[in-house]
Amino acid sequence: MDNIKVLFSAEEIAKRVSELGSEISDYYQDKSVLVLGVLNGCFVFAADLIRAMSTENMEFKFIRAKSYIGTQSGGEVSFSSGCERIDFGGKNVLIVEDIIDTGKTLAELRNKILTKAPADLKIAAFLNKPSRRIADISPDFCCFDIPDRFVVGYGLDYNEKYRQLPYLGCIE
Ligand code: IMP
Ligand code: MG
Repeated sequence: MDNIKVLFSAEEIAKRVSELGSEISDYYQDKSVLVLGVLNGCFVFAADLIRAMSTENMEFKFIRAKSYIGTQSGGEVSFSSGCERIDFGGKNVLIVEDIIDTGKTLAELRNKILTKAPADLKIAAFLNKPSRRIADISPDFCCFDIPDRFVVGYGLDYNEKYRQLPYLGCIE
């Protein structure tokens, strides 16, 4: 097992996700929202976030994106499941991501969705690593800004390991 240092405990995460859920619900008020979770990393955050939202009129879908191998961005971003088949026209879309790093993944996804004329498009990210940003993009809703460290847990992986950790840690 690698040496993993805790950055945010499960309790700290739960408190912040609950606050963010309220913030997002306040933004949508009684409007409908299509929540779009970006697999794989978002699955834990998305599950907690939607249960922290009081928005009644909600649809939820996953899409899949992958740009990382190990701790290095692979550069190429691919969306394998489903973006093309989803009807975004006239909808309030909320993208849910685990982390915005270079921003390439989200920038590509955002541009794809914008061609389909949503009424509104917002981004909720569990984490934001602003120091590594390449694409011109930032989250509208975010739990934590973090420094340039490779983090794992709460859904985030290092070569598919550590997604199950209930806390967020960085590999020492
Ligand atoms: P971006 O396109 O560089 O913003 O990369 C975004 C994706 O890379 C995220 O959705 C994560 O899956 C992955 N990623 C970026 N930084 C980390 C990290 O520190 N730990 C685990 N995965 C990361
Ligand atoms: Mg990922």
